Amino acid sequence: MALDQYYLLGTSGLRVSRLALGTMNFGTGGYHAAYGKTLDESRPIFRRYLEDGGNFVDTADFYTAGESETILGTLIAEAKVRDRVVLTTKFTNSVAPGDPNAGGNGRKHMIRALEDSLRRLGTDYVDLFLLHTWDRLTPVEEVLRTFDDLVRAGKIRYAGLSDVPSWYAAQAQTLARAHSSTPMINLQLPYSLVERQIEVEHVPMAHTLGLGLTAWSPLGGGFLSGKYRHDSAHGLTGDGRLSTPGGSGLPLTERDWQLLEPLETVADELGVTMAQVAVNWVATQPGISSAIVGASSADQLGSTMAALDFELPAELRVSLDEAGAVAPESLYRMFTPEYQGQLISPGVKVGDQPAGYRPAVQNWLPHSA
Ligand SMILES: NC(=O)c1ccc[n+]([C@@H]2O[C@H](COP(=O)([O-])OP(=O)(O)OC[C@H]3O[C@@H](n4cnc5c(N)ncnc54)[C@H](OP(=O)(O)O)[C@@H]3O)[C@@H](O)[C@H]2O)c1
Repeated sequence: MALDQYYLLGTSGLRVSRLALGTMNFGTGGYHAAYGKTLDESRPIFRRYLEDGGNFVDTADFYTAGESETILGTLIAEAKVRDRVVLTTKFTNSVAPGDPNAGGNGRKHMIRALEDSLRRLGTDYVDLFLLHTWDRLTPVEEVLRTFDDLVRAGKIRYAGLSDVPSWYAAQAQTLARAHSSTPMINLQLPYSLVERQIEVEHVPMAHTLGLGLTAWSPLGGGFLSGKYRHDSAHGLTGDGRLSTPGGSGLPLTERDWQLLEPLETVADELGVTMAQVAVNWVATQPGISSAIVGASSADQLGSTMAALDFELPAELRVSLDEAGAVAPESLYRMFTPEYQGQLISPGVKVGDQPAGYRPAVQNWLPHSA
C-alpha cells in the first residue's frame, strides 16, 4: 500500500499518509545534534518521501534548536509543496532558559512559539499545531482558547496534543466539543513493539473521543531494526544513533532484547526486514492513523516505506502481539473481560463488549479516506 493512500486524521476532513516523515534529525544543533543531518543530507530524505506520495511531515520548534524547522521550510520551498504537505509543528519546550514564560503551554508562550515557528518554516500557517508535552500548570481552557484563536486568525488549520496524560486529552476534547471550539484531531505518542504503554489508556480514549493517533519512534529509534547487540561489558553496540552519546532515549531491558527474536522470525518468514515488520505492525494497529518514521538516509527511508507493501498474516501478528504485550496491572485488571465475566456478569451471555477498553477497540480499524 503506497503512501498516496490517505487516511482521515481523527474526526476531521484532513487526509494524511499512513507513514509520516519525522524530521527531528534535520539539523545539527541542540538536543538532537549527535545524530543530526545537514541541509544537504536532509534534502534526499525529504525528496524521497515526497516521491513516494507522502504528504505528512512532523517537526517541532525544539528539534535541533530550531534548525529542523529552518531546513524543512527551505526544502518545502525548494520543492514548491507548501500547499500539498500537511505541515505539523509543536510548542512547549523552552526557547530561553531562565525566562519562565519562554516555555510551557501558557498563551504568551504558545503564540510566541508559533510566530517563531512560522518565521523559521517560511510560511504563514501550519496545518497541525501540537502541544508537545503537558506542562502540569496551564489550565486546559487557556490552551483550548488559544488554539481556537489561532485557527480564527488563519495561522493554524488544526490542533492536537502530544505526550499528555490520557485524562488531560479527554478533558481537552470534551470541553472543546461542549463549547464547539477547535477540537483536538490528533494525539502524537510513543508507540512501537518495544513501547506499548499507550494501549492501557490512550488508545481506547483516543478511539472513543475521535482523536487520530500518530505513533512516534515506531522503530524504537532504530532498535527494532535488529542492528544492535547487547554486550554486558560495553552495553549497547552497533552502528546507529542509539550507540552515540545522547542518542538513546530508551532504557532497554531484558524483555526488550527478547522481543527481537520473534520479530526476526516473522521477518524471515515473510522475506522482509525486521524494520519493515516493526513499522507495518505499528501502522496497522487499532487506532493508529499514521506512524512517524525517521531516517538517516534516503535509502533507509525507502526501505522503511516498503513496510506497507505487505500484509502481516493474523497468526504472525498474534506472535508479535503476545511477545511485548502490556499485562493489565492493579486496577486495570478489573476492566478485563475475564474479570468482568467472573464478577460482574457471571452466568450471563453478553453479546457486546463494554465500550472503550481494548477488546472493543481491537475490532476497530481506522477508516480509509
Ligand atoms: N512528540 C514527541 O515527543 C516525539 C519524540 C520523538 C520523536 N518524535 C517524532 O517522531 C519522529 C521519528 O522518531 P524516531 O526518529 O525516533 O523514529 P524511528 O523510526 O523509531 O527511528 C528512526 C531511526 O532509526 C534508524 N533507522 C531507520 N530506518 C532504519 C532501517 N531501515 N534500518 C536500520 N535503522 C533504521 C535511523 O537511525 P540510525 O541510522 O542512526 O540508526 C533513524 O533515524 C521524529 O523525527 C519526530 O518527528 C516525536
